[in-house]
Amino acid sequence: MSTKRISLTRYLVEQQRVDGHIPSQLRLLLEVVARACKSISQAVNKGDLGGVLGAASTENVQGEMQKQLDIIANEVLIEANEWGGHLAAMASEEMDSIYVVPNRYPQGEYLLLFDPLDGSSNIDVNVSIGTIFSVLKKPEGSVGVSEQDFLQAGAQQVAAGYCVYGPQTTLVLTVGDGVAMFTLDREQGSFVLTKENVEIPPDTKEFAINMSNMRHWDAPVKRYVDECLAGKEGPRGKDFNMRWVASMVADVHRILTRGGIFMYPWDKREPNKPGKLRLMYEANPMSWLVEQAGGAATNGKDRILDIAPGKLHERVSVILGSKNEVERVTAYHREG
Ligand code: AHG
Ligand code: MN
Ligand code: MN
Repeated sequence: MSTKRISLTRYLVEQQRVDGHIPSQLRLLLEVVARACKSISQAVNKGDLGGVLGAASTENVQGEMQKQLDIIANEVLIEANEWGGHLAAMASEEMDSIYVVPNRYPQGEYLLLFDPLDGSSNIDVNVSIGTIFSVLKKPEGSVGVSEQDFLQAGAQQVAAGYCVYGPQTTLVLTVGDGVAMFTLDREQGSFVLTKENVEIPPDTKEFAINMSNMRHWDAPVKRYVDECLAGKEGPRGKDFNMRWVASMVADVHRILTRGGIFMYPWDKREPNKPGKLRLMYEANPMSWLVEQAGGAATNGKDRILDIAPGKLHERVSVILGSKNEVERVTAYHREG
């Protein structure tokens, strides 16, 4: 990589010029999302000094108690994005239904979906959290905008990314031409390109799963983890390490940085739910990033990006990361 400092703006302009990956409205959208993430990052940094920690007294559509930062981050993203003319509507993990751009603003052709604050249980304990986003195009010929317009498979995404608020604030992005990472330079107030062509090694010795759910897992997941735990003496012939941050953004960021496998599989606690994580706000954008970095993402049987969503807040089982490991877990499911 060149030693020149390349800002997010410059990166996007050059991508637009070189191969037309980024139409100007999409570039505007991505810049606005980045600006919103900067503002969320400021709020996260202030913590107690900004009075942003702790629970709100409301529940979201998923039946989860909301934290103050869930609501703040959601508002920041909406306010930043509604007036620019690049969007038709937004959908969020924290809102029951879609948010159509109000009539007083021009309507664009893009749809933005987000998990405004991922890793809510980590907010108050000062552990990495993040924002995840996904961009779709409104289907051609559809008049107005409805929830139906959002129900597109992840393979249709035109951009996806996340911003992790950790020791550094890092924005990670794909527009379908590999994965790039940008670190927030707080003095300059801008995101600077710090990694391009991110590649996930196909093999790994590190797995991420909430082990406390072990007794509820299905046989293929249990088999895979048992084999990892058996280490050198077991069928895998090597020792594995385990990490679980409990913020998907942080776990995926580690995997994009040094490989690994992340699993939040279906389990027997709520057998009628396909999984805990949300297809449209979490699984789809993360799966595309992982695939763009040479990894794989399935729900145990099928590629996540091929799933046709039935509803906005649909949940899904998630297995993603280093290709050979994901293929192994998926093969165990197919055998079983
Ligand atoms: P959110 O904070 O947006 O509800 O998402 C939390 C998700 C995900 O980030 C994480 O991987 C998982 O929930 C953590 O689950 P456990 O509480 O089972 O560890
Ligand atoms: Mn989340
Ligand atoms: Mn969330």
